[in-house]
Amino acid sequence: MRLGDLVFTPYITADVIAERVRSLALELYERVGESDPVFLVLLQGAFVFAADLMRAYPGNAEVYFTRLRSYSGTEGGEIELFTGIPPALNNRHVIIVEDIVDSGRTVFHVQEELEAYRPASVTIVALLQKKILRPNLVKADMVGFEIPEDFVVGYGLDYNEMGRGLPDIYVLKK
Ligand code: IMP
Ligand code: MG
Repeated sequence: MRLGDLVFTPYITADVIAERVRSLALELYERVGESDPVFLVLLQGAFVFAADLMRAYPGNAEVYFTRLRSYSGTEGGEIELFTGIPPALNNRHVIIVEDIVDSGRTVFHVQEELEAYRPASVTIVALLQKKILRPNLVKADMVGFEIPEDFVVGYGLDYNEMGRGLPDIYVLKK
């Protein structure tokens, strides 16, 4: 499968993803079920995962979105919130929904921003987490799949904004 100048091969099928997302939703419900949690979805990548996770979640939950932008040109890559965090998160059980945790800088930044809103609790749920040798700043509390440090696309994840709509996840061919 080709996206722009890169070739990708099948990695995790839609069936396998769907099964894992269903069990994550049940695990999440066991953790925070009776507290009417708030899903805080990190755009763009997590929108597909969040839609499936929410529909598989057996309890009441609200959903809000925030978008981050990072300046990858600069060394150390500053991350900032592109849209603010909704004030409704005060004193709520917040579930940060992320597509993939790599260095952990993105979720770390969101966690820090969230502190000012004094949520009752924060749980980070990521569909994918890369197994990296350097220490993560922040790891997800719940992870769908741990993967090697390879570049993946599909199911919301993109390569230069391509591939987000693919039902399966693909990995960059070496
Ligand atoms: P982190 O801040 O290093 O944890 O990077 C996480 C963000 O980088 C995710 O929200 C994704 O948008 C992006 N990202 C990291 N790895 C991949 C990948 O393999 N494919 C697509 N996007 C990725
Ligand atoms: Mg992302």
